[in-house]
Amino acid sequence: MPSLISIKDLDKETLVKICYRALEIKKNGFQESLKSKIVATLFFEPSTRTCMSFETAIYRLGAQALRFPTDNSSLKKGESIEDTIRMAASYADCVVIRHPQEGLVLWAQKFCECPLINGGDGKNEHPTQTILDLVTLFEDRESLDGITITIAGDLKHSRTVTSLLHALSFFDLKIILAAPQNFELSSSSRTIISSQIICETENLSEALDTDYFYMTRLQKERFDGITGIETKDYWVVDLEKCKTYGRDSMKIMHPLPRVDEISVDLDDSPYQLYFTQASNGVYARIAVLEYVLGYL
Ligand code: NCD
Repeated sequence: MPSLISIKDLDKETLVKICYRALEIKKNGFQESLKSKIVATLFFEPSTRTCMSFETAIYRLGAQALRFPTDNSSLKKGESIEDTIRMAASYADCVVIRHPQEGLVLWAQKFCECPLINGGDGKNEHPTQTILDLVTLFEDRESLDGITITIAGDLKHSRTVTSLLHALSFFDLKIILAAPQNFELSSSSRTIISSQIICETENLSEALDTDYFYMTRLQKERFDGITGIETKDYWVVDLEKCKTYGRDSMKIMHPLPRVDEISVDLDDSPYQLYFTQASNGVYARIAVLEYVLGYL
């Protein structure tokens, strides 16, 4: 059975199929399709949405969640992470792992026989976030062809950006990159979407001339030092800027958590799509669990 370690594990057809399955579940309601299954969730890094939506997805599928107590396990006695993951994989039918170390989930595959799902590994990848991002886009419009999407914020350290850009490379759409100085996209990610980039800017007003504005927070846990950017108003998206520079139908997306980069005055506005994204996480993760457990 397949694992989902990187968004690159999926071809376009499979990716779209998983997204449409998620939308089908949203439309038709939950079915307990994985009733006898056990899914272990090992989160070695803080998480609100990914952890809670995976657990909700597990319960909605009629499966059982095996939650790993990071503060109260034999890791405290000196047990290795390898043995910890090995145990979870021997008890459960599928293991979801989030860990601050890049590549850890790929490495874990060597000693796990059951499917693994990457819930975010350092600044590397976050494939299930990308799936829920695409589910949200497909819910908002039938085709992504011809649209413009801005990817903004900390493009250098955001794993959500790396995974999302790879998925966007499958579609005939235009990309605007907006990053503060020293937070620009890595050359490896840039290569994948080089023919789609229509503008690179540090100027938010220019980047708001778009269909979707995907913002990310500064990933402070992944770099040292104070940037000063977070206190600067020019790097905050608010209602006034959206009205002045944005397209009327523009939507603001964000993987969340937000810190200051999206003003709360957008929460009740027609621009807001970030809470819809977060709630779509449950449907997306149900479809992912069905995929890795062979039910799709
Ligand atoms: C993201 C992550 O963990 O990478 N959050 C999430 O899973 N929704 C984004 C972030 O932490 O900024």
